[in-house]
Formats: sequence, structure tokens, C-alpha cells
Amino acid sequence: MASLSITARTANTIGQIKTQALVALVPDKKTLAPSLKALDKLLGGTITNAMKNGDFSSSLGSHHWLPGSAGVQRVLLIGCGDIGGQTVSSAKKLAETLARSLVSSQARDALVWTDGLTGKVRDASMLLEQIALQLTLAHYQYEHTLNQRKKPARPLKRVAVSPGNLCSLAEAKRSVAIGGATGQGANLTRELVNLPGNICTPKYLSGQARKLARMHSKLSVSVLNEQQMASLGMHSLLSVGNGSDQPSQLIVMKYQGASAKTRPYCLVGKGITFDTGGISLKPGGKMDEMKFDMGGAGSVFGALHAAAEMALPINIVGVIAAAENMPSGRATKPGDVVTSMSGKTIEVLNTDAEGRLVLCDALTYAARFEPIEVVDIATLTGAIIVALGHEATGIFSNDDHLANSLISAGERSHDRGWRFPIWDEYHRQLDSPFADLANIGAGGAGSITAACFLAQFAEDYKWAHLDIAGSAFRSAPKGATGRPVPLLIAYLRERAGHS
Ligand code: BES
Ligand code: MN
Ligand code: ZN
Repeated sequence: MASLSITARTANTIGQIKTQALVALVPDKKTLAPSLKALDKLLGGTITNAMKNGDFSSSLGSHHWLPGSAGVQRVLLIGCGDIGGQTVSSAKKLAETLARSLVSSQARDALVWTDGLTGKVRDASMLLEQIALQLTLAHYQYEHTLNQRKKPARPLKRVAVSPGNLCSLAEAKRSVAIGGATGQGANLTRELVNLPGNICTPKYLSGQARKLARMHSKLSVSVLNEQQMASLGMHSLLSVGNGSDQPSQLIVMKYQGASAKTRPYCLVGKGITFDTGGISLKPGGKMDEMKFDMGGAGSVFGALHAAAEMALPINIVGVIAAAENMPSGRATKPGDVVTSMSGKTIEVLNTDAEGRLVLCDALTYAARFEPIEVVDIATLTGAIIVALGHEATGIFSNDDHLANSLISAGERSHDRGWRFPIWDEYHRQLDSPFADLANIGAGGAGSITAACFLAQFAEDYKWAHLDIAGSAFRSAPKGATGRPVPLLIAYLRERAGHS
């Protein structure tokens, strides 16, 4: 993955600027700011012409390319609308337009020039953060299994962002670093999630965890193999990989940003590297999308990468339950009863409800870290797509403060979640005549009963579950989104006392 370098620096005066692409932010105002007038003059009046003839309007989401002049090769005008009333949603929209147009251009370097924003801007650091984040996301492309000729060109290598009148250079540097790190985390998530199931196996994920630990001095990794998991009694997790030739792995990544004594935040990821459904086999159509079933695990990688990059002053433990769900003569069958690490027995009524079977043992294991809070992340249920579509992540929690923190982290990052109840009445759906609980319910609300199942293994700490089956990937164009890394980073930054 070739990465894009984004830095903040003070821009030269308009006649002195040398860049392949000058990206000018233009607010919706009756008259152009003096700096934009100077640019217009340098360009021989092409900005005022483009506005007069309707080729460019300064409304939010519009953009227009102009040929450059002197040291400026080309100019990208970005309409900013009413920047004084900016919300995170409008900042994101502006940043997305900017990033997509710039990344698909022929420019190798660019200057994002904010001098045209002379009036009140609601939240400058949020705007700069979104610009760095969206540029990083737009620059990502999947290449791993593509031939050279199919790789779209990405000439853009370096972007400088000048704070102009928005904020100090120091503030701009901080915002750009945060947005860039979040984007790099999300891109790591996308890459792992996009990889096909024959490459991205549980073993591959543990190799990638070791690789991540080599990149960050404060990150360490340990991996439990099937034998070690068996001695801990993780027979629910192990039952999922029974039909697979790929051994299951429990991957533990520790980021130590605070003193060793400080209790950690724990992120638990569902890492089903391919979900056929097992003996309860899924239908063939779109089954390829079940390579995305390690989206939760991928987001744990991405969040840890970004947190380490930002040097957040907290401790974080990532636990990934990695397995492949396959049918075979050794596979778990409907009606089989397994004993989880907690001691609770589980009747596996449907082998396709495997995510909760791996997560329950990972949640029991997480208790040993005495976590402040545990958040699990999983592409857990198709039913969450029925409820929320692809816009929001489903949030479930046994703690109102944690649930509210995750909801507001989603709003701050515009990577939003929506909470569902996990009332006792729903729990009854999981009663089984043959075990402590069944792995599916039979009365509707499939996402809620899945969360209720997990809740029974998370009673000893503050816990939340994020169902990302709708938000982690898209079917058209097919690919991973990198969600919910921005939400997780907003939550962790807030817990770390970062503004
Ligand atoms: N990995 C799937 C959930 C999923 C579905 C993720 C669609 C992304 C897109 C999960 O393991 C699963 O199969 N869930 C079942 C549960 C059912 C058997 C109770 C489902 O949603 O159908
Ligand atoms: Mn499944
Ligand atoms: Zn699954």
C-alpha cells in the first residue's frame, strides 16, 4: 500500500506558490475574499468567469478545475457553502469532493489553500481533520491480487495543507496528523477485509498482527493456538473451526500508551475469515461477500494502528477470535452441544450463527485484563441490515454511559451508530431444553437476540457490541469501508482525554 504524505505548512503569497494543484476553498459569499481576488487576477479572471457562466458555484459539494498560471499548474475550486454553519456532515461532504477530485487528477503534489475562508468557520480542526481523513481514504486502492495494468494510476504523492486564517500552524499540524492516522488505520482495515479468504486465513491474520507490532514499539502480540485454547476450555470458539483445514487462532495485541498498571480498554473482533455457514450452509448467491466476515477483526487492527500512530495515552488490548466456518465430516452439526470457556453449555441450533460462538469465548478471555470497558465489533447479523441498512452500525450495551459515548463518538466522526435494547424479554428466546442457552432465537429481532447471547458472557464488566454487518462493506462497488475505525478512534480519543 503506497501511502500519501499529508502535512500542514504556511503557504507563500499567491504569486510565489509553486504546486501542481492549488486547491482553493471558496465559501458561498456575495463577493470574493481579497486572497481569492488575487488568485483570480493571477489566473486572468477565470474564477469570476466560471462563476458567471455557471461552471462553478460556491455551494457545498461543487468543484471545478481551471488551468493554472506561473508556478501553479492547475487549480481546483471547491465550493464550501455556508462554512460558518458547518456541521461534521457538511465538512465531510466538502472533504470527500476535494479528495476524490484531487486523487483522480494527474497532479503529483498539491496545496490545499484555505486563505479564501475569511469569515467565521465553525470548527477548523474538524474541517482539517476531515480533509486529511478523506484524502487518505480516497487515495487507497486495492492492489494485492491485481496485475499492473489493472491498477488505476495514483500520481498524487504529497499534499500540503495551509491553515490560512483558520487556526495556528500547530493546531493544523495536529488535526492533519489525527485525520491522516485515522485514515491509515481505516485503510489497513480495508486492505485486510478486502483480501480473499484463500489469502486472509486465521494464520495470515496472526502474521499481520506480528507485523503491526514490529511497526509500533508500544505494541506487542501473542497468539494462542488450538491446543492452548482447548486447555483454556474454549470449546465454543473451537467448534466453529472444526470443519476447516485452517487452524483457529486467538490473537492478542497489547498497546501500552499508559503505565503498565493502568487498566486497559479492550476491543474484541470477530475474525471469521470465511463464513460458508457450515453445515447450515448459506445460499450460493453473494457468498463471496462472506470473506468480509472478519470486518470486526480488521477494525481492531485499524484502531490499534491509528491509536499507536497518535500515541494515545491509554492502554488498549485487542482480542481477535479468528476461524474459518466450513462444512465437512468433522464440522459441528445442528443440535451439537458445546461447552464454552465460561462453563455455560451452548446448543448449536444453526452453525451459521458462528460469530457469537467465537466471540463468547473471546469475551470470557477478555476479563483477565480487568478492562475498564470492552467493545466487541462484529459483522454479526444480516438482520442489522434489515433494520439500519448500510448507514449505521448497531450498538448494544449493558452500560448507558458507554452506549452514549459510542453514539456521540459516531456523531463526532460521522461514522454513526444507533442503539437497540437487550431486554430480559428477548433473552428468553435463547432458552434451550438441552443446554444453558441456544445459539439462535426464534421470535424475530435477530440482531438483538445475537447481542443478548453475547451479553451473557460479558456480565462482569462494562460492555458494548457493535454489529457492523451493514457498515463494514458495500456490495456495489464491492469493498470494505474501513468502518467503524473513525467511530472507535473518536471513542478512544475521548477516553484518552484528547479534545
Ligand atoms: N456473517 C453472518 C452475518 C452477515 C450477513 C454479515 C450478511 C454480513 C452480511 C453471520 O455469521 C450469519 O450468518 N448470521 C446469520 C444468523 C442466523 C443464522 C441466526 C444471519 O444473519 O442470517
Ligand atoms: Mn454465519
Ligand atoms: Zn458470520
